[in-house]
Amino acid sequence: MAKITCIANNTAKKDSGLRSEHGLAFWIEIGSSGMLFDTGQTEAVLSHNMKMLGLKGQNVKAVVFSHAHYDHTGGLEAVLSENTGLTIYAHTDIFRPRYSLREGKYQSIGLSLTQADLASRAKLSLSHTPTEILPDLWTTGEILERLEPEGRSTHHFIVIDETWQPDPYRDDLSLVLKTQKGLVVICGCCHAGLLNTLFHVQKMFKRPIIAVLGGTHLVNADDMYLEHVIDVFQDRYKHIKFYLNHCTGERAFQKLKSVFGSQVKACPAGTIIHFN
Ligand SMILES: [Fe+2]
Ligand SMILES: [Fe+2]
Repeated sequence: MAKITCIANNTAKKDSGLRSEHGLAFWIEIGSSGMLFDTGQTEAVLSHNMKMLGLKGQNVKAVVFSHAHYDHTGGLEAVLSENTGLTIYAHTDIFRPRYSLREGKYQSIGLSLTQADLASRAKLSLSHTPTEILPDLWTTGEILERLEPEGRSTHHFIVIDETWQPDPYRDDLSLVLKTQKGLVVICGCCHAGLLNTLFHVQKMFKRPIIAVLGGTHLVNADDMYLEHVIDVFQDRYKHIKFYLNHCTGERAFQKLKSVFGSQVKACPAGTIIHFN
């Protein structure tokens, strides 16, 4: 039995006392082990929400970062300060500096800690291939094949050979939970592209996908692409359940809801989902 709790998100459940912020964090519990997938944007929100939800930093066995962006990594100190035996899992490219170009200025939006800092305070496990975190819970590894559009923001840049280039988001990964009925895919920002991620998961894990959770980065998708996404879901993942939040975007959410009805649910902070 796996229990997934959304701890931090752009929205929080009404009257829950939980705080919201632009960011994402999930708590995933399998048996007696708990881990975090992303840490939201700030230590303050992660600490507050974990306390409200009865989750303890000392009980976190591992943190997996979906990618480097501050809205997924900024709250790490909340668990790092309470836990000395933590293992942090991420893609090998996670420490590359990343920038956002706004009004002609490049602002740093990557991981605020250096590799040396982090390695001195936690065990680092960096890999671009699928890695088992807890029993039946894996990272996707790098999404290599990207034939479908990526979940791209045009203001995201990195520096290669002293020139600004669009961020290729090599560090973007998701989680895969193996259940009796099929695979549950838990996304961070899905910069590699939602369909690319799902196709990769099916190829690597060779089971049907029964649910998608988290940020799907459809926020910038135009109508034509959204129609295409819906066609692919109707063709390949007709009975899938959606628990969508963060960078999915309201328009994409409503469009999916209009087609898939009660299969589509929002996933504000405070949402708890069980899988067998
Ligand atoms: Fe991101
Ligand atoms: Fe994000």
